[in-house]
Amino acid sequence: MEKESPFGLSHICVLLTALMAILPLSQGNWMWLGVTSFGVPEKLGCTNLPLSFHQKEMCRKKPYLLSSIREGARLGIHECRNQFKHERWNCSVSPTISSASSSFSLSFITSSLASAHTIFGYELSSGTKETAFISAVTAAGLVHSVTRACSAGNMTECSCDTSLQNGGSASEGWHWGGCSDDLQYGMWFSRKFLDAPYKNSSGRDSDVLNAMHLHNNEAGRQAVTKLMTVDCRCHGVSGSCAVKTCWKSMSSFEKIGNFLKNKYENSIQIADRLKRKVRRREKNDRKIPIYKGDLVYTNKSPNYCVEDPKLGISGTHGRECNRTSEGSDSCNLLCCGRGYNTHVVRHVERCECKFVWCCYVRCRRCESMTDVHTCK
Ligand SMILES: *[C@@H]1O[C@H](CO)[C@@H](O)[C@H](O)[C@H]1NC(C)=O
Ligand SMILES: *[C@@H]1O[C@H](CO)[C@@H](O)[C@H](O)[C@H]1NC(C)=O
Ligand SMILES: *[C@@H]1O[C@H](CO)[C@@H](O)[C@H](O)[C@H]1NC(C)=O
Ligand SMILES: *[C@@H]1O[C@H](CO)[C@@H](O)[C@H](O)[C@H]1NC(C)=O
Repeated sequence: MEKESPFGLSHICVLLTALMAILPLSQGNWMWLGVTSFGVPEKLGCTNLPLSFHQKEMCRKKPYLLSSIREGARLGIHECRNQFKHERWNCSVSPTISSASSSFSLSFITSSLASAHTIFGYELSSGTKETAFISAVTAAGLVHSVTRACSAGNMTECSCDTSLQNGGSASEGWHWGGCSDDLQYGMWFSRKFLDAPYKNSSGRDSDVLNAMHLHNNEAGRQAVTKLMTVDCRCHGVSGSCAVKTCWKSMSSFEKIGNFLKNKYENSIQIADRLKRKVRRREKNDRKIPIYKGDLVYTNKSPNYCVEDPKLGISGTHGRECNRTSEGSDSCNLLCCGRGYNTHVVRHVERCECKFVWCCYVRCRRCESMTDVHTCK
């Protein structure tokens, strides 16, 4: 839950402004993810938020969308961390920034500032698969949060999907009812808010990066569309299900995250010179189409093994690994072959609790030891 910062929001503004000052302009479109660090955006107004010029304009015109913008950024960042928690790159912070921001004791500020920074840092201009994932998951987050606000009746521009009203199939015993999520407005807004800056680029070098961002933003939005589901509820005598009411709803954001993680794992490397549109780097594969929903990247990723503060890479030193796993969290893979340290951690918990008449619960203290392995 959010609390007011004891330091006051102005301090955070100063920090964020400082952060933003060191960034090239072309990176401005990612700044919006920093809105998660603002406790009460409605009170701040749009001008003080980490938004690009055109996003500020949109924010000024539709200030009631601010909470959805913030929620969209939060969803995206949270899901990125969730999906990558067992990987070398864990969607997290460069050490320099995390220690700089640790002076803010409130963890929500630290964590969102920090996550905003990763994105501000290396990953953003690097054109890697990781950049692709961040684009997609945050663009999807924005669709999700705006659509939820539509369905909740919080918006004048959109509501539930009214085109479905009165439809259905009487013979099959079901009809549309309730509130179906209507993605149209959320999709429009996500495109407008996130894509516009990339469409006005002049620098030739950035053409392919722009095309990549645009493609991946759209891939994220397509994932929300693709994973729409139909839910139904039965009516009828004692649950006989003679009549069903059905409605369309978005999948949970975690499902969307899983879907995008899979796209990330199968992402496609594109040629670093555009020919009207993106095309595969592999000449022999160019006949295979690139679909709207695919994630694309231009540059190979670093291995993320060793700390590199300049690039905002934390390295995997000190990360907890799993000795028995064979996946990305295995000590071998996560520690990049450097080996690991093992410490014994003692857990004390209440156990064998019994209800004693009357009226309290008596427990014993149980101790257990577990081995924890961390990368060298
Ligand atoms: C809708 O508005 C109410 C009141 O402002 C707010 O509490 C709620 O979180 C909003 N819901 C969504 C999904 O935006
Ligand atoms: C992009 O360029 C068009 C025409 O040049 C302009 O109308 C529009 O406002 C620009 N958008 C942004 C976000 O700068
Ligand atoms: C990600 O890894 C860094 C070290 O590489 C660690 O400090 C941080 O806590 C990790 N973040 C999460 C969310 O696990
Ligand atoms: C380690 O990996 C194994 C196999 O994947 C799994 O069963 C176990 O729960 C993992 N342990 C921890 C502490 O995550």
